[in-house]
Amino acid sequence: MSRVVHITRRERFSAAHKLYNSEWTDEKNQEVFGKCANSNWHGHNYELFVTVKSTINPETGFVMDLKSLSDLLKEKIINHLDHKNLNLDTPFMKNIMSSTENICVAIWDEIQPDIEKKGAELVVIKLQETENNFVEYYGE
Ligand code: NI
Repeated sequence: MSRVVHITRRERFSAAHKLYNSEWTDEKNQEVFGKCANSNWHGHNYELFVTVKSTINPETGFVMDLKSLSDLLKEKIINHLDHKNLNLDTPFMKNIMSSTENICVAIWDEIQPDIEKKGAELVVIKLQETENNFVEYYGE
């Protein structure tokens, strides 16, 4: 019987952003986004959890080599987010509101084809923005 197992890699990054809708007045932005609309930016220490699944490779005993998953995440994601301004510096966040929800979806789109090429299936992207708030995206 072939067993399907989920594995998760955690990565961390620190980044600046602000939430601001330029179609709205400053007052409305302040009302909706509160401190996150601060015009001189603010930052978070994000924790990213990427979960993939596959059957176990009988030769290695692995679902996927976690080192190769980590290398992929560093190259495609972390290098573009860590110590960056998400609104200004990150190509795949251009013209997208830098909410935790939108960052999750953008990360999914960036890595999903590569995960598939490595013979696994992307299950969920979890992104923790603060100790109490995190977002999960399952590809729907
Ligand atoms: Ni924020």
